[in-house]
Amino acid sequence: MQKMIIQGGNRLSGEVTIGGAKNSTVALIPAAILADTPVQFDTVPDILDVHNLMIILESMNVKSEFNHGVLDIDPTQIVEAELPSKAIKSLRASYYFMGALLGRFHRATLTFPGGDNIGPRPIDLHIKAFETLGATVSEVNGTVHLEAANGLHGARIFMDMVSVGATINAILAAVRAEGTTVIENAAREPEIIDLATFLNNMGAKIRGAGTDTIRITGVDTLQSMNTHTIIADRIESGTYLALAAALGDGVMIHNVIPEHLESFTSKMIEMGVDLQIDSDKIYVPKTTSFKPIHVKTMPFPGFATDLQQPLTPLMSLADGDSVVVDTIYPKRVKHVPELQKMGMNIEADDTTGTIVIKHTDKLHGANVSAGEIRCGAALTIAGLMAEGTTVITNAGNILRGYDRIVWKLNRLNANVTIEDDSSVKIG
Ligand code: EPU
Repeated sequence: MQKMIIQGGNRLSGEVTIGGAKNSTVALIPAAILADTPVQFDTVPDILDVHNLMIILESMNVKSEFNHGVLDIDPTQIVEAELPSKAIKSLRASYYFMGALLGRFHRATLTFPGGDNIGPRPIDLHIKAFETLGATVSEVNGTVHLEAANGLHGARIFMDMVSVGATINAILAAVRAEGTTVIENAAREPEIIDLATFLNNMGAKIRGAGTDTIRITGVDTLQSMNTHTIIADRIESGTYLALAAALGDGVMIHNVIPEHLESFTSKMIEMGVDLQIDSDKIYVPKTTSFKPIHVKTMPFPGFATDLQQPLTPLMSLADGDSVVVDTIYPKRVKHVPELQKMGMNIEADDTTGTIVIKHTDKLHGANVSAGEIRCGAALTIAGLMAEGTTVITNAGNILRGYDRIVWKLNRLNANVTIEDDSSVKIG
């Protein structure tokens, strides 16, 4: 188990560069096994999820190498194998191997995926999509078996709810299926466009990614010709925007796609932060007073559920009550009791997903736990704002999703270290 130790109170300034999107990367790596050639990704974030996905690839004899943000994957010698359940359980997105293996071998057997503990996360829509394409699916003791004995066939899939994961899994299964698949009520997240771009550049025929209707005509082979550069992480961008506004003396954030963040930046502007938004960077000036806001999380292009927690510490500086309603994950409130330990005036009702954040004069360091990635991001920002020392246990959850976070924060003048079990400092 790792701990993040933060000596709070430093003002931050300087520049930070955002990495490739975690939620693209974790779909692109499984998608790579659909290729008939080696593939290469650039701007890959250095996060634990990537290393765990590489362990899963290795178990199928898919060699991968990760150096300085470049990830090479060679799926040409892939074999069917039992996937390592520890790595599968370490992240939710391992379920993308269901769609990718079905696409590649017409069958797959996987342990039920793990990932963030943010309330119920069923996979019924994924299963329904696989069945519509011709697979039979059964679950025995937490292991899911999928098989399309007669191959996968294009079909119309209507998603009962907008789901990022189910849309991606349906694309992965359909891209090499026979005939045309139409996904209706598809998710429109930028990470889905990124996946479609990668697959289309290898010869796939996916049209409409980024809208709610995606058409996929199956192809026989996928061949990579170019390095795929992963889009910038909009959640990491939002996290640095929030922390720069809360305790920055002027911070420039590079490698941002402002169009992916409009629902977030508009809220920061509403709070009184005079963001200077350029084509691929955003400057956050020193800001000393903030207005309260109301936020409701929605599927893209609405306000992302993944950003409600990182924005909380900033909201506690506002001169009134801010309210968050998380309609995607009403139980995503793990940060609330931890922030209360640091003196924040915050309350949650997890039946409605409503969080009320009142003005708080001062936070103080405390021992807190990062129950999941974005909870960890909120605690990191609060720890940087607080007086004294904050120790965040379960810091692996932060390292799962934030590219070289300790190095990036310390370059901005923060004082952050990571300790592992044996108290050896590694960051
Ligand atoms: N849902 C179902 N049935 C399903 C699938 C989803 O009822 O079969 C429900 C969920 O319970 C939820 C809603 O649909 O209420 C939307 O969930 P979605 O499937 O879109 O979420 P996901 O694909 O499991 C991804 C991100 C999450 C992010 C959500 C929402 C990845 C790997 N994960 O999860 O990211 O919160 O979309 O935008 O892409 C994070 O990065 O911190 C994170 C948790």
